[in-house]
Amino acid sequence: MKPFCTAVLLAILLCDYSTGAFVLHVKNRRSLTNHQRPSFALFKARRPVIAGNWKLNPKTIAEASQLLKLLHANFVNHRTPAQLDVEVVVFPPFPFLLEALLVLQGSGIKVGAQNVALQTSGAYTGEVSASMVRSIGVDYVMLGHSERRAIFGESDVDINKKLHLCLAEPGLGVILCVGETEDEYESKLLASVCDVQIRKGLKGVSINDISRIIIAYEPVWAIGTGKVATPEQAQVAHTVIRKTLADVYGYQAADSVRIQYGGSVNPENVDSLMSMPDVDGALVGGASLTADSFTRIVDGSATMSRVYARPKELSAQLEVPCTNVLGESPIWSVRDQALYWVSAPEGEIWTLTRTEPAYRRLASTVVGCIGLMESNQRGSLVVAGEKAILGLFVSPDTTDFASGPRILCDRPELTDVTRPNDGRVDRQGRFVIGMYNTYHRTPLGEANIAGLYRLNKDGYLESLLDESMDYRVSNCICFPASGDKMYFCDTPTRKIYSFDYPVEFGGKLSNRKLIWTMPANMPGGPDGAQVGESRALNEIGW
Ligand code: PGA
Repeated sequence: MKPFCTAVLLAILLCDYSTGAFVLHVKNRRSLTNHQRPSFALFKARRPVIAGNWKLNPKTIAEASQLLKLLHANFVNHRTPAQLDVEVVVFPPFPFLLEALLVLQGSGIKVGAQNVALQTSGAYTGEVSASMVRSIGVDYVMLGHSERRAIFGESDVDINKKLHLCLAEPGLGVILCVGETEDEYESKLLASVCDVQIRKGLKGVSINDISRIIIAYEPVWAIGTGKVATPEQAQVAHTVIRKTLADVYGYQAADSVRIQYGGSVNPENVDSLMSMPDVDGALVGGASLTADSFTRIVDGSATMSRVYARPKELSAQLEVPCTNVLGESPIWSVRDQALYWVSAPEGEIWTLTRTEPAYRRLASTVVGCIGLMESNQRGSLVVAGEKAILGLFVSPDTTDFASGPRILCDRPELTDVTRPNDGRVDRQGRFVIGMYNTYHRTPLGEANIAGLYRLNKDGYLESLLDESMDYRVSNCICFPASGDKMYFCDTPTRKIYSFDYPVEFGGKLSNRKLIWTMPANMPGGPDGAQVGESRALNEIGW
């Protein structure tokens, strides 16, 4: 289930009678204009670098730890080689640095410090030195952020001094922030302000050390304001900065320096910013405080995510107004000549036939998904409810279920942290149910995974995932006609996988292949899917 939609538009698309192919479209889904569509240079020589500047957030170590664990979970599994090739750094406040280093181990995410002292040691109460942060394993220090310049009065001379202290620590890199204020921008001073900040900030830095420095161009008017620079504005500024670097270090060295853009970067705008030839990454403030949005920003900056083909876009041929909060699990019954679906949190099962207006029946439980049940009786459904898996009949003649729900078995994972979510009857007639884990939204427990189960005809529920596979949501479950493959997606990470499907009892899913990652600038998340007319997974609703 997903929180993205508030209203559901039922769209009947490519109605394939043998497989029942329907796609749910969300009414207020935004479509991308041509301008928003990424048009990327496929490979940049400079390795993209995405940094998360946490500033004075979050309030406690518990919250910091939670964010770090979610980031770790997003980064340890399921990354494409191109996504792995993005350098990722987070900059938590000093008291959380050790925790970050600990929790992020094995994730590939580096840790940076937001500032260091102007001195190396001695009587400087409250200060933290470059050698201190390097000695615990910090890889980067951020210097010259506009908030430090404006609020704490740091001058270019101070910044330059700190930068040399950092370079004195072997292996320590620096992100040097520069950028003009709104007034300076209006007065056309962008070029001269950035030029001065770069020259003074890098004073005395040798060409040999320039590879340890990343420049972050952050127009002050874009920081924390939601007023992002256009990709074209960012490109102009980055060219100006690279020209200054070329003046000082020559073209070859200047060409190797990575220049990040910073200021209101989010999952929606990162792709178009990254499509600019001189934008080599992003320095992200607000959007780095949510694991999923930061992850999407990183994914959006990975070169490979740009070459994935988009799925074919479909549009509705028929709209049926209804009041559903979350319309899920649409299924067409050839026997009943009816479409069934659920409005999940309301516990409603809806029916639409070719002749009757849509009507609903109450299931009195949150409904994850439904499937058709083998029976001669109209309206027989299997229902994955919050408390149990039920068999029931939906009748057009009564306001309630014609015959009371029959409990087929307990629901899997009897915990508060997970609940049945998407499901689909496989090609052998067994009901496969994916679980939804609320951990990524509310910290209810430690287990950050959710399983996938198959209800056999004898009522026995078996687990299909081997223990090494961790997912938080199994959505978009579907089977091609061959019956020996299965698709599903993990909604929080927006990745769709194919597997070899174990037809025999007791088997596990194997041979996992990542087949598509939703680009960062595509809104929503995959939630329900069915195979299309070609019997391949080529329609996805979100
Ligand atoms: P923002 O901050 O992304 O919240 O605008 C950027 C920064 O200050 O580095």
